[in-house]
Amino acid sequence: MNALWSDMVKRTEPYTPGEQVNGEEWIKLNTNENPYPPSPRVFEALQQELTSNLRKYPESNPEELRNALAELHQVSADQVFIGNGSDEVLAFSFMAFFSPEKPILFPAITYSFYPTYAALFDISHAAIPLQEDFNLDEKAFCNSEGGVIFPNPNAPTGISLSIDGVANIVSGNRGRTVIIDEAYIDFGGVTAIPLLERFDNLLIIRTMSKSRSLAGLRIGYAIGSKNMIEALNRIKNSFNSYTIDRLALAAGVASVNDKDYFNDMIQSIIQTREQAKKVFESVGFTVLPSVANFLFVHHPEIPAKQLHKSLKDKQILVRHFSKPETEEWLRVTIGSDDEMKQFFEKLFELVGVWTDKSSAY
Ligand SMILES: Cc1ncc(COP(=O)(O)O)c(C=O)c1O
Repeated sequence: MNALWSDMVKRTEPYTPGEQVNGEEWIKLNTNENPYPPSPRVFEALQQELTSNLRKYPESNPEELRNALAELHQVSADQVFIGNGSDEVLAFSFMAFFSPEKPILFPAITYSFYPTYAALFDISHAAIPLQEDFNLDEKAFCNSEGGVIFPNPNAPTGISLSIDGVANIVSGNRGRTVIIDEAYIDFGGVTAIPLLERFDNLLIIRTMSKSRSLAGLRIGYAIGSKNMIEALNRIKNSFNSYTIDRLALAAGVASVNDKDYFNDMIQSIIQTREQAKKVFESVGFTVLPSVANFLFVHHPEIPAKQLHKSLKDKQILVRHFSKPETEEWLRVTIGSDDEMKQFFEKLFELVGVWTDKSSAY
């Protein structure tokens, strides 16, 4: 270990992002990106921004985008905090609301950045096992010492918790922060935003990477009480005054303003997901009931790790998590109809070869 490293670096186990590949020949179903382009209005806004103000710093506390998001979510602009992707908003939230000596709770199967942030900021934590059917055990998340964080719907399962379930967890943690990571909520979950009227210990984090197809521009945001947003601003302004660049800000506003395009895109992805679920099941996969833009699937005979590798050999990327709880499963992002057709053609070949082989033994 490097003697020059700080304790913070030494105890850190960095998050491993999904593999990024270049080239048209790859079908990328491994990082929950949106298969469709962003709204055409985004490209117009980017073009305009490119030809005007790039020599100037962007706004530090972006007013136009906060106003657009406030209107969209029916909250006030001082309840909105914007960051460079929701990963940054999550990192700031760990710093702003969780303390080292008070253990926080998150699900044992969840977004793997949470344990990374907990280690980085030296925050003790307990990973709460999911129930056998992969649902969250609501009661186990009540009465935390230091706060709670979980995605709704959860990742990588895609399963959502009901709004009553969320309310129970928030009310079971009065005086401690409960963070709901709604990265995938637009694909069919029920948002906890209306609960903000009842609870002052709730923070909701969103991203434009998935449902708005803007992963490349890095825009995330949080919605919470004015008091919580002030805490996030205090962290941000002690770190970097300009976390979101001008192009991202312009694109974010344009995307929020194009509601029809957004709704159509979401409907297409939901339809493809439901169709894909049936196709997986028709060749023997177990598929969790996802309301996200991905499916978590398991085949009783084919080891997930091997299937992941065989698909990669055919230039298809899906995500395999090698932790013991999830090593038998694959997470498959919903692509376009055409991508899914190609994916299933290749998958059928592999399933056919594998099941023939296994029946020969
Ligand atoms: C549950 C969850 N939260 C947050 C993120 C981060 O998204 P962003 O691109 O906004 O940093 C992801 C991305 O995969 C995610 O799965």
